[in-house]
Amino acid sequence: MQQPNPQQPAVFIETFGCQMNVLDTELVAGQLRGLGYRFTDRWQDADVVLYNTCSVREHAEQKVWSRVGILGDYKRDTRPDLVLGVIGCMAERDGTDLVRKHPQVDLMCGPSELDKVPLLIDNVLRTRVNDRGGLRSAQVALQGDNQRRASTLQAARDSLEMIDLARSFSPERDGHSAYVRITRGCNKYCTYCVVPFTRGQEVHRPPQAILDEVRKLVDAGAVEVTLLGQTVNHYHYDNAAAVTVEGVTQPQVGSVIAPNRGTGGPSPVFADDVTSFAQLLRLIHDNVPELQRLRFVTSFPRDFGDDILETIRDCPRICRYLHLPVQSGSDAQLKAMNRGYTIDQYRDLLQRARRIIPDVEIATDIITGFCGETEDDHWKTVDLLRTADFKNSFIFKYSPRPGTVAYDRLEDDVPDDIKKRRNRELLEAQAEASQRVHARYVGKTVSVFVEGASRKEIKKQNQVELGWESDTSTATRQVTQLSGRTGGDLIVLFDGDEALTGTVVNVDIQRATTLSLFGTLAETIA
Ligand code: SAH
Ligand code: F3S
Repeated sequence: MQQPNPQQPAVFIETFGCQMNVLDTELVAGQLRGLGYRFTDRWQDADVVLYNTCSVREHAEQKVWSRVGILGDYKRDTRPDLVLGVIGCMAERDGTDLVRKHPQVDLMCGPSELDKVPLLIDNVLRTRVNDRGGLRSAQVALQGDNQRRASTLQAARDSLEMIDLARSFSPERDGHSAYVRITRGCNKYCTYCVVPFTRGQEVHRPPQAILDEVRKLVDAGAVEVTLLGQTVNHYHYDNAAAVTVEGVTQPQVGSVIAPNRGTGGPSPVFADDVTSFAQLLRLIHDNVPELQRLRFVTSFPRDFGDDILETIRDCPRICRYLHLPVQSGSDAQLKAMNRGYTIDQYRDLLQRARRIIPDVEIATDIITGFCGETEDDHWKTVDLLRTADFKNSFIFKYSPRPGTVAYDRLEDDVPDDIKKRRNRELLEAQAEASQRVHARYVGKTVSVFVEGASRKEIKKQNQVELGWESDTSTATRQVTQLSGRTGGDLIVLFDGDEALTGTVVNVDIQRATTLSLFGTLAETIA
Protein backbone atom coordinates (compact mmCIF):
# COMPACT_ATOMS: atom_id res chain seq x y z
CA MET A 1 0.00 0.00 0.00
CA GLN A 2 1.13 3.52 -0.77
CA GLN A 3 2.34 5.76 2.08
CA PRO A 4 0.40 8.99 2.79
CA ASN A 5 1.85 11.64 0.52
CA PRO A 6 2.23 15.16 1.98
CA GLN A 7 1.64 16.52 -1.56
CA GLN A 8 -1.75 14.82 -1.73
CA PRO A 9 -4.86 16.51 -0.30
CA ALA A 10 -5.90 15.77 3.30
CA VAL A 11 -9.35 14.19 3.57
CA PHE A 12 -12.00 14.46 6.30
CA ILE A 13 -15.01 12.09 6.12
CA GLU A 14 -18.02 12.31 8.44
CA THR A 15 -20.50 9.42 8.51
CA PHE A 16 -24.23 9.69 9.20
CA GLY A 17 -26.68 6.83 9.75
CA CYS A 18 -26.37 3.07 9.75
CA GLN A 19 -23.63 0.41 9.94
CA MET A 20 -23.82 0.09 6.16
CA ASN A 21 -22.58 3.67 5.96
CA VAL A 22 -19.79 2.99 8.47
CA LEU A 23 -18.58 0.22 6.15
CA ASP A 24 -18.97 2.40 3.03
CA THR A 25 -16.87 5.13 4.67
CA GLU A 26 -14.18 2.62 5.57
CA LEU A 27 -14.11 1.34 1.98
CA VAL A 28 -13.95 4.82 0.43
CA ALA A 29 -11.24 5.83 2.92
CA GLY A 30 -9.32 2.64 2.08
CA GLN A 31 -9.39 3.46 -1.62
CA LEU A 32 -8.19 7.01 -1.05
CA ARG A 33 -5.51 5.83 1.38
CA GLY A 34 -4.31 3.37 -1.28
CA LEU A 35 -3.82 6.33 -3.61
CA GLY A 36 -1.68 8.14 -1.04
CA TYR A 37 -4.31 10.54 0.33
CA ARG A 38 -3.81 11.68 3.92
CA PHE A 39 -6.59 11.71 6.54
CA THR A 40 -7.42 14.24 9.23
CA ASP A 41 -9.85 14.21 12.18
CA ARG A 42 -10.67 17.92 11.81
CA TRP A 43 -12.51 19.44 8.86
CA GLN A 44 -10.58 22.67 9.46
CA ASP A 45 -7.37 20.86 8.40
CA ALA A 46 -8.87 19.17 5.34
CA ASP A 47 -8.57 19.89 1.61
CA VAL A 48 -11.37 17.45 0.81
CA VAL A 49 -14.48 17.14 3.03
CA LEU A 50 -16.87 14.26 2.34
CA TYR A 51 -20.22 13.71 4.07
CA ASN A 52 -21.44 10.12 3.84
CA THR A 53 -25.16 10.65 4.26
CA CYS A 54 -28.34 8.86 5.32
CA SER A 55 -31.88 9.50 4.03
CA VAL A 56 -33.87 7.13 6.27
CA ARG A 57 -35.26 9.97 8.39
CA GLU A 58 -35.56 13.68 7.69
CA HIS A 59 -33.64 14.55 10.84
CA ALA A 60 -30.49 12.86 9.51
CA GLU A 61 -30.77 14.86 6.29
CA GLN A 62 -31.22 18.14 8.16
CA LYS A 63 -27.96 17.57 10.03
CA VAL A 64 -26.15 17.25 6.71
CA TRP A 65 -27.79 20.41 5.32
CA SER A 66 -26.59 22.33 8.31
CA ARG A 67 -23.02 20.99 7.83
CA VAL A 68 -23.10 21.79 4.10
CA GLY A 69 -24.27 25.33 4.97
CA ILE A 70 -21.40 25.89 7.42
CA LEU A 71 -18.81 24.42 5.05
CA GLY A 72 -20.25 26.38 2.12
CA ASP A 73 -19.73 29.69 3.97
CA TYR A 74 -16.25 28.65 5.07
CA LYS A 75 -15.37 27.72 1.50
CA ARG A 76 -16.69 31.00 0.08
CA ASP A 77 -15.00 33.17 2.68
CA THR A 78 -11.81 31.33 3.62
CA ARG A 79 -10.99 28.25 1.55
CA PRO A 80 -12.29 28.52 -2.04
CA ASP A 81 -10.06 25.59 -3.03
CA LEU A 82 -11.78 23.20 -0.59
CA VAL A 83 -13.42 20.17 -2.28
CA LEU A 84 -16.85 19.49 -0.75
CA GLY A 85 -18.57 16.18 -1.51
CA VAL A 86 -21.89 14.61 -0.52
CA ILE A 87 -21.85 10.83 -0.91
CA GLY A 88 -24.30 8.06 0.04
CA CYS A 89 -28.10 8.03 0.16
CA MET A 90 -28.79 11.79 0.00
CA ALA A 91 -26.69 12.07 -3.15
CA GLU A 92 -28.82 9.33 -4.69
CA ARG A 93 -32.18 10.67 -3.50
CA ASP A 94 -31.80 14.36 -4.18
CA GLY A 95 -29.51 13.94 -7.16
CA THR A 96 -28.66 16.88 -9.33
CA ASP A 97 -31.26 18.95 -7.52
CA LEU A 98 -28.96 19.02 -4.55
CA VAL A 99 -25.99 20.42 -6.49
CA ARG A 100 -28.25 23.06 -8.02
CA LYS A 101 -29.48 24.18 -4.59
CA HIS A 102 -26.01 24.05 -3.07
CA PRO A 103 -23.51 25.36 -5.62
CA GLN A 104 -20.71 25.01 -3.06
CA VAL A 105 -20.99 21.19 -3.31
CA ASP A 106 -18.39 19.98 -5.84
CA LEU A 107 -19.23 16.30 -6.04
CA MET A 108 -22.05 13.91 -5.34
CA CYS A 109 -21.98 10.15 -5.46
CA GLY A 110 -24.74 7.63 -4.70
CA PRO A 111 -24.10 4.46 -2.62
CA SER A 112 -23.85 2.17 -5.63
CA GLU A 113 -21.10 4.23 -7.28
CA LEU A 114 -18.72 4.69 -4.37
CA ASP A 115 -15.83 3.01 -6.16
CA LYS A 116 -15.71 6.13 -8.35
CA VAL A 117 -15.15 8.64 -5.52
CA PRO A 118 -11.37 8.95 -6.16
CA LEU A 119 -12.07 9.59 -9.84
CA LEU A 120 -14.65 12.24 -8.99
CA ILE A 121 -12.27 14.05 -6.63
CA ASP A 122 -9.63 13.91 -9.33
CA ASN A 123 -12.09 15.36 -11.86
CA VAL A 124 -12.93 18.26 -9.58
CA LEU A 125 -9.25 19.07 -9.06
CA ARG A 126 -8.43 18.67 -12.76
CA THR A 127 -11.26 20.81 -14.11
CA ARG A 128 -10.13 23.46 -11.67
CA VAL A 129 -6.61 23.48 -13.01
CA ASN A 130 -8.00 23.94 -16.52
CA ASP A 131 -10.24 26.79 -15.51
CA ARG A 132 -7.99 29.84 -15.68
CA GLY A 133 -10.74 32.23 -14.67
CA GLY A 134 -10.63 31.08 -11.06
CA LEU A 135 -11.23 28.13 -8.80
CA ARG A 136 -14.71 27.28 -10.04
CA SER A 137 -14.80 23.68 -11.16
CA ALA A 138 -17.40 21.57 -12.92
CA GLN A 139 -19.75 19.92 -10.42
CA VAL A 140 -19.77 16.17 -10.82
CA ALA A 141 -22.58 13.84 -9.83
CA LEU A 142 -22.96 10.11 -10.12
CA GLN A 143 -26.12 8.26 -9.26
CA GLY A 144 -26.81 4.56 -9.36
CA ASP A 145 -29.41 1.97 -10.19
CA ASN A 146 -32.36 4.32 -10.50
CA GLN A 147 -30.84 6.21 -13.39
CA ARG A 148 -28.85 3.44 -14.98
CA ARG A 149 -29.81 1.43 -18.06
CA ALA A 150 -30.33 -2.26 -17.24
CA SER A 151 -27.53 -3.42 -19.58
CA THR A 152 -24.90 -1.60 -17.56
CA LEU A 153 -26.23 -2.59 -14.13
CA GLN A 154 -24.27 -5.82 -13.89
CA ALA A 155 -21.05 -4.12 -14.95
CA ALA A 156 -21.62 -1.53 -12.22
CA ARG A 157 -22.15 -4.25 -9.63
CA ASP A 158 -19.04 -6.09 -10.70
CA SER A 159 -16.91 -2.98 -10.38
CA LEU A 160 -18.58 -2.23 -7.03
CA GLU A 161 -17.74 -5.74 -5.85
CA MET A 162 -14.11 -4.72 -6.25
CA ILE A 163 -14.41 -2.00 -3.59
CA ASP A 164 -15.27 -4.65 -0.97
CA LEU A 165 -12.56 -7.01 -2.17
CA ALA A 166 -9.84 -4.37 -2.32
CA ARG A 167 -10.24 -3.23 1.29
CA SER A 168 -7.29 -3.00 3.61
CA PHE A 169 -7.99 -3.59 7.29
CA SER A 170 -5.82 -2.69 10.24
CA PRO A 171 -6.85 -3.41 13.85
CA GLU A 172 -4.81 -0.40 15.07
CA ARG A 173 -6.85 1.91 12.85
CA ASP A 174 -10.18 0.09 12.49
CA GLY A 175 -10.49 -1.76 15.84
CA HIS A 176 -10.80 -5.54 16.09
CA SER A 177 -14.31 -5.70 14.75
CA ALA A 178 -15.09 -5.58 11.02
CA TYR A 179 -18.19 -5.37 8.85
CA VAL A 180 -18.66 -7.54 5.76
CA ARG A 181 -21.43 -6.88 3.28
CA ILE A 182 -23.37 -9.92 2.09
CA THR A 183 -26.34 -8.22 0.40
CA ARG A 184 -26.74 -4.82 -1.18
CA GLY A 185 -30.05 -2.97 -1.49
CA CYS A 186 -33.54 -4.13 -0.56
CA ASN A 187 -36.64 -5.30 -2.44
CA LYS A 188 -39.14 -5.27 0.41
CA TYR A 189 -40.61 -1.83 -0.27
CA CYS A 190 -41.98 -1.21 3.21
CA THR A 191 -44.26 1.75 2.47
CA TYR A 192 -42.38 4.23 4.73
CA CYS A 193 -38.84 3.32 3.67
CA VAL A 194 -36.51 5.08 1.26
CA VAL A 195 -33.80 2.39 1.24
CA PRO A 196 -35.00 0.46 -1.86
CA PHE A 197 -34.82 3.78 -3.75
CA THR A 198 -31.44 4.93 -2.47
CA ARG A 199 -29.59 1.61 -2.30
CA GLY A 200 -31.34 -0.04 -5.23
CA GLN A 201 -32.39 -3.62 -5.87
CA GLU A 202 -31.37 -6.51 -3.63
CA VAL A 203 -28.14 -8.13 -4.87
CA HIS A 204 -26.38 -10.98 -3.05
CA ARG A 205 -22.61 -11.32 -3.10
CA PRO A 206 -21.06 -14.67 -4.06
CA PRO A 207 -20.32 -16.82 -0.96
CA GLN A 208 -16.75 -17.36 -2.04
CA ALA A 209 -16.12 -13.59 -2.19
CA ILE A 210 -17.62 -13.20 1.30
CA LEU A 211 -15.58 -16.09 2.67
CA ASP A 212 -12.37 -14.72 1.11
CA GLU A 213 -13.04 -11.31 2.64
CA VAL A 214 -13.68 -12.75 6.12
CA ARG A 215 -10.48 -14.79 5.88
CA LYS A 216 -8.47 -11.74 4.83
CA LEU A 217 -9.90 -9.69 7.70
CA VAL A 218 -9.14 -12.39 10.27
CA ASP A 219 -5.61 -12.81 8.90
CA ALA A 220 -5.19 -9.05 9.31
CA GLY A 221 -6.31 -9.22 12.99
CA ALA A 222 -10.12 -8.99 13.06
CA VAL A 223 -11.60 -10.86 16.05
CA GLU A 224 -15.26 -10.21 15.31
CA VAL A 225 -17.03 -9.98 11.94
CA THR A 226 -20.56 -8.62 11.46
CA LEU A 227 -22.30 -9.62 8.23
CA LEU A 228 -24.38 -6.76 6.84
CA GLY A 229 -27.54 -6.66 4.78
CA GLN A 230 -30.99 -5.07 5.06
CA THR A 231 -32.61 -8.54 5.29
CA VAL A 232 -29.76 -11.00 5.82
CA ASN A 233 -31.99 -14.07 6.26
CA HIS A 234 -33.12 -13.65 2.64
CA TYR A 235 -29.54 -14.16 1.46
CA HIS A 236 -29.28 -16.72 -1.31
CA TYR A 237 -26.77 -17.16 -4.06
CA ASP A 238 -27.23 -19.36 -7.08
CA ASN A 239 -23.81 -20.92 -7.58
CA ALA A 240 -24.83 -22.54 -10.87
CA ALA A 241 -25.79 -19.24 -12.45
CA ALA A 242 -22.60 -17.81 -13.83
CA VAL A 243 -21.42 -14.34 -12.95
CA THR A 244 -21.70 -11.94 -15.86
CA VAL A 245 -19.04 -9.36 -16.34
CA GLU A 246 -19.99 -6.77 -18.94
CA GLY A 247 -22.35 -9.17 -20.65
CA VAL A 248 -19.85 -12.05 -20.92
CA THR A 249 -20.84 -15.20 -19.06
CA GLN A 250 -18.08 -16.57 -16.86
CA PRO A 251 -17.92 -19.40 -14.35
CA GLN A 252 -17.60 -18.32 -10.74
CA VAL A 253 -14.05 -18.34 -9.46
CA GLY A 254 -13.34 -20.73 -6.57
CA SER A 255 -15.49 -23.52 -5.22
CA VAL A 256 -17.93 -23.62 -2.34
CA ILE A 257 -18.69 -26.76 -0.40
CA ALA A 258 -22.33 -26.68 0.62
CA PRO A 259 -22.92 -28.16 4.11
CA ASN A 260 -26.11 -30.05 4.93
CA ARG A 261 -29.10 -27.81 5.33
CA GLY A 262 -31.12 -27.99 8.55
CA THR A 263 -34.74 -29.09 8.49
CA GLY A 264 -38.00 -27.56 9.60
CA GLY A 265 -39.20 -23.98 9.72
CA PRO A 266 -40.64 -21.93 6.92
CA SER A 267 -37.39 -21.18 5.11
CA PRO A 268 -37.65 -20.71 1.37
CA VAL A 269 -36.71 -23.89 -0.48
CA PHE A 270 -33.71 -23.43 -2.73
CA ALA A 271 -32.27 -25.57 -5.49
CA ASP A 272 -29.30 -27.70 -4.45
CA ASP A 273 -26.61 -25.41 -5.73
CA VAL A 274 -28.04 -22.35 -4.06
CA THR A 275 -26.22 -21.18 -0.93
CA SER A 276 -28.75 -20.10 1.72
CA PHE A 277 -28.06 -17.79 4.67
CA ALA A 278 -27.82 -20.76 7.06
CA GLN A 279 -25.26 -22.37 4.76
CA LEU A 280 -23.30 -19.14 4.44
CA LEU A 281 -23.10 -18.86 8.25
CA ARG A 282 -21.85 -22.40 8.59
CA LEU A 283 -19.45 -22.01 5.73
CA ILE A 284 -17.78 -19.03 7.42
CA HIS A 285 -17.92 -20.58 10.89
CA ASP A 286 -16.34 -23.86 9.76
CA ASN A 287 -13.82 -22.47 7.29
CA VAL A 288 -12.45 -19.65 9.46
CA PRO A 289 -11.92 -21.31 12.86
CA GLU A 290 -9.75 -18.40 14.08
CA LEU A 291 -12.74 -16.06 13.86
CA GLN A 292 -13.93 -15.70 17.46
CA ARG A 293 -17.24 -13.98 16.87
CA LEU A 294 -19.58 -14.01 13.89
CA ARG A 295 -22.65 -11.75 14.01
CA PHE A 296 -25.16 -10.46 11.48
CA VAL A 297 -27.68 -7.61 11.08
CA THR A 298 -30.49 -7.09 10.13
CA SER A 299 -32.98 -9.96 9.96
CA PHE A 300 -36.42 -9.67 8.40
CA PRO A 301 -39.20 -11.30 10.48
CA ARG A 302 -40.58 -13.23 7.50
CA ASP A 303 -38.97 -16.39 6.05
CA PHE A 304 -36.70 -16.88 9.05
CA GLY A 305 -36.16 -20.62 8.89
CA ASP A 306 -35.30 -23.12 11.63
CA ASP A 307 -32.23 -23.96 9.54
CA ILE A 308 -30.76 -20.56 10.47
CA LEU A 309 -31.66 -20.94 14.16
CA GLU A 310 -30.21 -24.47 14.27
CA THR A 311 -27.00 -23.29 12.63
CA ILE A 312 -26.61 -20.59 15.29
CA ARG A 313 -27.31 -23.16 18.03
CA ASP A 314 -24.76 -25.61 16.61
CA CYS A 315 -21.95 -23.12 15.92
CA PRO A 316 -20.51 -21.83 19.21
CA ARG A 317 -18.73 -18.84 17.68
CA ILE A 318 -21.91 -17.42 16.11
CA CYS A 319 -23.37 -14.77 18.42
CA ARG A 320 -26.68 -15.50 20.10
CA TYR A 321 -28.16 -12.23 18.97
CA LEU A 322 -30.98 -11.35 16.57
CA HIS A 323 -31.94 -7.87 15.44
CA LEU A 324 -35.51 -8.44 14.31
CA PRO A 325 -37.27 -5.13 13.54
CA VAL A 326 -41.01 -5.52 14.21
CA GLN A 327 -41.99 -1.83 13.57
CA SER A 328 -45.45 -2.10 15.23
CA GLY A 329 -47.50 -4.31 17.54
CA SER A 330 -50.66 -3.79 15.48
CA ASP A 331 -51.66 -5.92 12.50
CA ALA A 332 -53.44 -2.97 10.86
CA GLN A 333 -50.23 -0.92 11.00
CA LEU A 334 -48.08 -3.82 9.80
CA LYS A 335 -50.41 -4.12 6.81
CA ALA A 336 -50.23 -0.38 6.06
CA MET A 337 -46.45 -0.67 6.28
CA ASN A 338 -46.44 -3.65 3.85
CA ARG A 339 -44.38 -5.76 6.24
CA GLY A 340 -45.90 -9.09 5.15
CA TYR A 341 -46.40 -10.69 8.60
CA THR A 342 -48.84 -10.49 11.49
CA ILE A 343 -48.02 -10.02 15.17
CA ASP A 344 -48.94 -13.65 15.87
CA GLN A 345 -46.46 -14.78 13.23
CA TYR A 346 -43.82 -12.49 14.74
CA ARG A 347 -44.47 -13.85 18.24
CA ASP A 348 -44.22 -17.39 16.86
CA LEU A 349 -40.79 -16.55 15.50
CA LEU A 350 -39.68 -15.19 18.90
CA GLN A 351 -40.89 -18.39 20.54
CA ARG A 352 -39.21 -20.60 17.95
CA ALA A 353 -35.93 -18.67 18.28
CA ARG A 354 -35.96 -19.00 22.09
CA ARG A 355 -36.87 -22.67 21.98
CA ILE A 356 -34.01 -23.52 19.61
CA ILE A 357 -31.45 -21.07 21.09
CA PRO A 358 -32.37 -20.68 24.80
CA ASP A 359 -29.71 -18.02 25.47
CA VAL A 360 -30.59 -15.82 22.45
CA GLU A 361 -31.11 -12.07 22.98
CA ILE A 362 -33.38 -10.14 20.65
CA ALA A 363 -33.54 -6.44 19.78
CA THR A 364 -36.10 -4.67 17.62
CA ASP A 365 -36.98 -1.44 15.77
CA ILE A 366 -40.26 0.43 16.22
CA ILE A 367 -41.80 3.26 14.20
CA THR A 368 -44.26 5.29 16.24
CA GLY A 369 -46.94 7.58 14.80
CA PHE A 370 -47.06 6.02 11.34
CA CYS A 371 -50.00 7.05 9.12
CA GLY A 372 -53.37 6.13 10.65
CA GLU A 373 -51.92 4.85 13.95
CA THR A 374 -54.71 4.92 16.58
CA GLU A 375 -54.34 4.86 20.37
CA ASP A 376 -55.38 1.23 20.20
CA ASP A 377 -52.60 0.44 17.67
CA HIS A 378 -50.13 2.28 19.88
CA TRP A 379 -51.08 0.36 23.04
CA LYS A 380 -50.69 -2.89 21.15
CA THR A 381 -47.08 -1.88 20.49
CA VAL A 382 -46.57 -0.90 24.16
CA ASP A 383 -47.97 -4.30 25.13
CA LEU A 384 -45.55 -6.03 22.76
CA LEU A 385 -42.59 -4.20 24.34
CA ARG A 386 -43.82 -5.13 27.83
CA THR A 387 -44.14 -8.80 27.01
CA ALA A 388 -41.68 -9.73 24.23
CA ASP A 389 -38.50 -9.55 26.34
CA PHE A 390 -36.50 -7.46 23.88
CA LYS A 391 -33.08 -6.56 25.24
CA ASN A 392 -33.53 -3.13 23.64
CA SER A 393 -35.59 -1.32 21.01
CA PHE A 394 -34.64 1.39 18.58
CA ILE A 395 -37.73 3.62 18.57
CA PHE A 396 -38.24 6.16 15.78
CA LYS A 397 -40.95 8.75 15.19
CA TYR A 398 -42.38 8.31 11.71
CA SER A 399 -40.72 10.67 9.23
CA PRO A 400 -42.39 10.92 5.81
CA ARG A 401 -39.86 10.37 3.01
CA PRO A 402 -40.50 11.72 -0.49
CA GLY A 403 -40.64 8.98 -3.11
CA THR A 404 -42.10 6.32 -0.81
CA VAL A 405 -45.61 4.86 -1.14
CA ALA A 406 -46.63 6.23 2.27
CA TYR A 407 -45.51 9.74 1.30
CA ASP A 408 -47.57 9.64 -1.90
CA ARG A 409 -50.66 7.76 -0.74
CA LEU A 410 -51.06 7.92 3.04
CA GLU A 411 -51.61 10.90 5.26
CA ASP A 412 -49.06 11.71 7.98
CA ASP A 413 -52.00 12.26 10.34
CA VAL A 414 -50.48 11.72 13.79
CA PRO A 415 -49.56 15.17 15.17
CA ASP A 416 -46.00 15.61 16.39
CA ASP A 417 -46.94 16.10 20.06
CA ILE A 418 -48.76 12.74 19.98
CA LYS A 419 -45.77 11.09 18.28
CA LYS A 420 -43.58 12.48 21.07
CA ARG A 421 -45.88 11.22 23.81
CA ARG A 422 -46.15 7.75 22.24
CA ASN A 423 -42.39 7.69 21.79
CA ARG A 424 -41.96 8.40 25.52
CA GLU A 425 -44.46 5.70 26.52
CA LEU A 426 -42.68 3.17 24.34
CA LEU A 427 -39.30 4.12 25.80
CA GLU A 428 -40.67 3.66 29.32
CA ALA A 429 -42.08 0.22 28.49
CA GLN A 430 -38.79 -0.82 26.92
CA ALA A 431 -36.74 0.51 29.85
CA GLU A 432 -38.64 -1.79 32.23
CA ALA A 433 -38.16 -4.73 29.88
CA SER A 434 -34.43 -4.01 29.42
CA GLN A 435 -33.94 -3.81 33.17
CA ARG A 436 -35.61 -7.22 33.54
CA VAL A 437 -33.53 -8.80 30.75
CA HIS A 438 -30.27 -7.42 32.17
CA ALA A 439 -31.12 -8.40 35.77
CA ARG A 440 -31.22 -12.09 34.77
CA TYR A 441 -27.46 -11.99 34.29
CA VAL A 442 -26.60 -10.90 37.84
CA GLY A 443 -24.64 -13.71 39.49
CA LYS A 444 -23.70 -15.29 36.16
CA THR A 445 -20.39 -15.39 34.29
CA VAL A 446 -20.53 -14.16 30.70
CA SER A 447 -18.01 -14.14 27.89
CA VAL A 448 -17.23 -10.61 26.71
CA PHE A 449 -15.55 -9.29 23.58
CA VAL A 450 -13.55 -6.31 24.89
CA GLU A 451 -13.95 -3.23 22.71
CA GLY A 452 -11.76 -0.83 24.73
CA ALA A 453 -12.02 1.89 27.36
CA SER A 454 -15.60 2.80 28.21
CA ARG A 455 -16.97 6.20 27.17
CA LYS A 456 -16.98 7.34 30.79
CA GLU A 457 -13.31 6.34 31.07
CA ILE A 458 -12.34 8.16 27.86
CA LYS A 459 -14.13 11.28 29.11
CA LYS A 460 -12.37 11.03 32.46
CA GLN A 461 -8.94 10.60 30.85
CA ASN A 462 -9.55 13.59 28.57
CA GLN A 463 -10.51 15.68 31.57
CA VAL A 464 -7.34 14.67 33.40
CA GLU A 465 -5.31 15.57 30.32
CA LEU A 466 -6.97 18.96 30.12
CA GLY A 467 -6.45 19.51 33.82
CA TRP A 468 -10.18 19.63 34.61
CA GLU A 469 -9.93 16.99 37.29
CA SER A 470 -8.05 17.69 40.46
CA ASP A 471 -7.37 14.04 41.31
CA THR A 472 -4.58 13.28 38.85
CA SER A 473 -3.88 9.89 40.42
CA THR A 474 -6.35 8.33 37.93
CA ALA A 475 -4.12 9.45 35.05
CA THR A 476 -1.39 7.03 35.98
CA ARG A 477 -3.40 4.01 37.08
CA GLN A 478 -3.16 0.80 35.03
CA VAL A 479 -6.74 -0.24 35.60
CA THR A 480 -9.28 1.27 33.28
CA GLN A 481 -13.03 0.86 33.01
CA LEU A 482 -13.40 -1.35 29.93
CA SER A 483 -16.44 -1.83 27.76
CA GLY A 484 -17.37 -4.92 25.80
CA ARG A 485 -20.31 -6.99 24.57
CA THR A 486 -21.66 -10.45 25.36
CA GLY A 487 -22.54 -12.91 22.60
CA GLY A 488 -26.13 -11.68 23.07
CA ASP A 489 -24.97 -8.09 22.45
CA LEU A 490 -25.41 -6.84 26.03
CA ILE A 491 -22.98 -4.09 27.04
CA VAL A 492 -20.66 -5.07 29.92
CA LEU A 493 -18.53 -2.62 31.93
CA PHE A 494 -15.69 -3.83 34.15
CA ASP A 495 -12.22 -2.78 35.32
CA GLY A 496 -9.18 -4.22 33.56
CA ASP A 497 -6.02 -3.51 31.64
CA GLU A 498 -6.57 -1.76 28.30
CA ALA A 499 -4.30 -4.42 26.76
CA LEU A 500 -7.32 -6.76 26.92
CA THR A 501 -8.90 -4.80 24.05
CA GLY A 502 -9.71 -7.10 21.14
CA THR A 503 -9.79 -10.28 23.25
CA VAL A 504 -12.66 -12.34 24.61
CA VAL A 505 -12.68 -12.65 28.45
CA ASN A 506 -15.02 -13.98 31.12
CA VAL A 507 -16.69 -11.48 33.45
CA ASP A 508 -18.66 -12.18 36.65
CA ILE A 509 -21.75 -9.98 36.64
CA GLN A 510 -22.64 -8.17 39.87
CA ARG A 511 -25.05 -5.41 38.87
CA ALA A 512 -27.46 -4.57 36.06
CA THR A 513 -29.06 -1.35 34.79
CA THR A 514 -31.40 -0.80 31.84
CA LEU A 515 -28.44 -0.14 29.57
CA SER A 516 -25.61 -2.36 30.75
CA LEU A 517 -24.14 -5.02 33.03
CA PHE A 518 -21.39 -4.32 35.57
CA GLY A 519 -18.93 -6.95 36.75
CA THR A 520 -15.37 -8.03 37.49
CA LEU A 521 -12.91 -10.07 35.48
CA ALA A 522 -13.42 -13.75 36.23
CA GLU A 523 -10.62 -16.14 37.17
CA THR A 524 -11.64 -18.48 34.34
CA ILE A 525 -10.39 -17.98 30.80
CA ALA A 526 -12.96 -17.48 28.04
N1 SAH B 1 -33.48 -3.41 7.29
C1 SAH B 1 -32.83 -2.19 7.65
C2 SAH B 1 -33.79 -1.08 7.78
C3 SAH B 1 -33.08 0.15 7.51
S1 SAH B 1 -33.85 1.49 8.16
C4 SAH B 1 -32.05 -2.30 8.92
O1 SAH B 1 -32.61 -2.69 9.93
O2 SAH B 1 -30.90 -1.89 8.96
C5 SAH B 1 -33.61 1.21 9.93
C6 SAH B 1 -34.86 1.47 10.70
O3 SAH B 1 -35.25 2.81 10.50
C7 SAH B 1 -36.08 0.66 10.29
O4 SAH B 1 -36.10 -0.61 10.85
C8 SAH B 1 -37.21 1.53 10.77
O5 SAH B 1 -37.56 1.23 12.10
C9 SAH B 1 -36.64 2.93 10.72
N2 SAH B 1 -37.21 3.71 9.61
C10 SAH B 1 -37.14 3.45 8.29
N3 SAH B 1 -37.82 4.38 7.59
C11 SAH B 1 -38.34 5.25 8.50
C12 SAH B 1 -39.14 6.42 8.40
N4 SAH B 1 -39.57 6.87 7.23
N5 SAH B 1 -39.47 7.06 9.56
C13 SAH B 1 -39.04 6.60 10.76
N6 SAH B 1 -38.29 5.50 10.90
C14 SAH B 1 -37.94 4.83 9.79
FE1 F3S C 1 -36.51 -0.58 4.46
FE2 F3S C 1 -38.24 -2.52 4.78
FE3 F3S C 1 -36.05 -2.90 3.34
S1 F3S C 1 -37.49 -1.15 6.38
S2 F3S C 1 -34.54 -1.53 4.20
S3 F3S C 1 -37.72 -1.55 2.83
S4 F3S C 1 -36.97 -4.32 4.82
